[in-house]
Amino acid sequence: MRVLSGIQPSGKVHLGNYLAMMKPAIEMQSTHEVFLFIANYHALTSLHDADLLRENTLDAAIDLLACGLEPKQAVFYRQSDVPEVHELAWLLSSICPMGLLERCHSFKDKTAKGIAASHGLFAYPVLMASDILAVRGELVPVGRDQKQHLEVTRDLAHKFNSSFAEVFTMPEPMIADHVAVVPGIDGQKMSKSYNNTIDIFAADKPLKKAIMKIVTDSKELEDVKDPDSSTIMDIYKLLADESQVAALEERFRAGGMGYGHAKTELLDVFHAVFDPYRGKRVELAENLDYVEEVLQAGATRAREEVSKVLSGAREAMGLA
Ligand code: ADP
Ligand code: TRP
Repeated sequence: MRVLSGIQPSGKVHLGNYLAMMKPAIEMQSTHEVFLFIANYHALTSLHDADLLRENTLDAAIDLLACGLEPKQAVFYRQSDVPEVHELAWLLSSICPMGLLERCHSFKDKTAKGIAASHGLFAYPVLMASDILAVRGELVPVGRDQKQHLEVTRDLAHKFNSSFAEVFTMPEPMIADHVAVVPGIDGQKMSKSYNNTIDIFAADKPLKKAIMKIVTDSKELEDVKDPDSSTIMDIYKLLADESQVAALEERFRAGGMGYGHAKTELLDVFHAVFDPYRGKRVELAENLDYVEEVLQAGATRAREEVSKVLSGAREAMGLA
């Protein structure tokens, strides 16, 4: 089965991005055919600073490689190195009903947050459909907020296949329940735009600061605490193993442990998970030629796939 996912290089990678999209894709690379890319065309819908976009794009590539993406197994590329996705996006655009895009929450959410209502932002889901259909992605690991974009992708694939020819493979979203909505330090959905993230490669000081800021109720040290209504515990469960979780839950229920202590436990487990990746990240950041080589090789491989699908779609529509 082929797995495909992308990440916008619109800022630092946080725990929500990592758990919903990066980790599942990386874990499947030895059992599935994984295609992963940096969605820098998509980032243009909200980022208009050339140097920053270049920097974020490279950072996202380094982050994924540091977290274990293995370029000998997975196909890893920068979206803008595969410009064919735009031609396919146009073909899909011409069969995409306006109403389908008008119903998309992400456009409304993003414009409500102050992102300019450009045509690119409106058409964003069509380009995303093209990313997926162009490489015949079958499983798409994402967070829950991307589910509607997968529905648009499926609608377009179905419409095209039934109106022209069976060119596209039907993709499925892959949304694991426990990481579908990772909470941020304020208990809301973790998101760059809410300023509530725990960034996986944050330096020690800001990392500690973020974790110590996790919201709690006002129970005192000696009070009995409810592990089921604690954001500290919700995040801890995503990183610790079962016995660690059971032990910390027990200490919540026993009383005599302050929230500060629970946060320190969370910080420890965070370091245990991410410190090995941090070391790798430092090495990669000193070896940018290697990173670029990986991305170029990935783009060559992706273009081979994309050109097959694109020529099928062109022919089916009467362009060739
Ligand atoms: P942000 O909301 O921080 O801007 P993005 O929109 O760039 O994050 O999301 C990148 C990927 O990470 C998507 O697949 C998205 O669904 C996933 N994701 C982002 N935040 C979370 C979260 N809090 N919980 C689960 N998945 C998330
Ligand atoms: N829209 C996704 C996000 O904001 C990024 C993305 C672009 C993507 N194209 C994709 C994800 C294709 C999966 C498949 O996170």
